[in-house]
Amino acid sequence: MNNDILKVLYSKEEIDNACKSLGNEISKTYAGKTPVVVGVLKGAIFFMTDIVRAVDSYMQIDFIDVSSYHGATESSGTVELLQDINTNITGRDVLIVEDIVDTGRTLKFLLDTFADRGAKSIKVCTLLDKPAGRKVDVKSDFTGFKVPNEFVVGYGLDYDEKYRNLPYIGVLKPEIYANK
Ligand code: PRP
Ligand code: MN
Ligand code: MG
Repeated sequence: MNNDILKVLYSKEEIDNACKSLGNEISKTYAGKTPVVVGVLKGAIFFMTDIVRAVDSYMQIDFIDVSSYHGATESSGTVELLQDINTNITGRDVLIVEDIVDTGRTLKFLLDTFADRGAKSIKVCTLLDKPAGRKVDVKSDFTGFKVPNEFVVGYGLDYDEKYRNLPYIGVLKPEIYANK
C-alpha cells in the first residue's frame, strides 16, 4: 500500500463489483436508446472506462475536462471548463459519469451547461457521493458508494494531482496535507 495512505476505503474488488451492478442498472435504464456518456476528466478516467464496459446498451462516449480544486482539499467554488465535449447533445440522452460528488458545484455546472444545450434527458452516475459536503442541491441517479466526510484519493481521485493511479480508494494521512 502507498505510504501516504492511512486506510483503504474501497478495494479494487469492491470497486469492480460496484461497476458491475451499476452497469446492469444503467443497461436497463437505457435499453433501446443510445445515450451520450460523458466522462468528467480527470477524476472519472478509470471509473468511466470501467463503467462503460459494464453497460451493454448502445452508447456514444465523450469527455469533458473541468476543474475546481486546483490542488487543494477544498473546492475553490468556481468551475473552470478546460476542454469541452465535441458531440452535439441537443435532443440526446446524456449520462454524466463522475468519480465523486462533493459540494455538487461541478455537477451543477455540467447539468446547467448540458440543459442549456437542449439535452433530452440528463442523468448522473457517480462512483462516490459525499452528502455531507453538499453546498448546492444536486442528486446522482446511479451511485456506487456514499462516502464519509473525509478527503479520499485513488482510482482517479487526486490530491495535488498525485495518487490518481492507486487501484483502490483510500484516505490520506492528515500530515500529507496539514502543512500545505
Ligand atoms: C473533483 C472531482 C469531481 C469534483 C467534485 O474534480 O473529480 O469532478 O471535484 O467536487 P464538487 O462536488 O465539490 O464540485 P477536480 O476539480 O479536482 O478536477 P480533477 O477531476 O481533474 O481532479
Ligand atoms: Mn473531477
Ligand atoms: Mg482534483
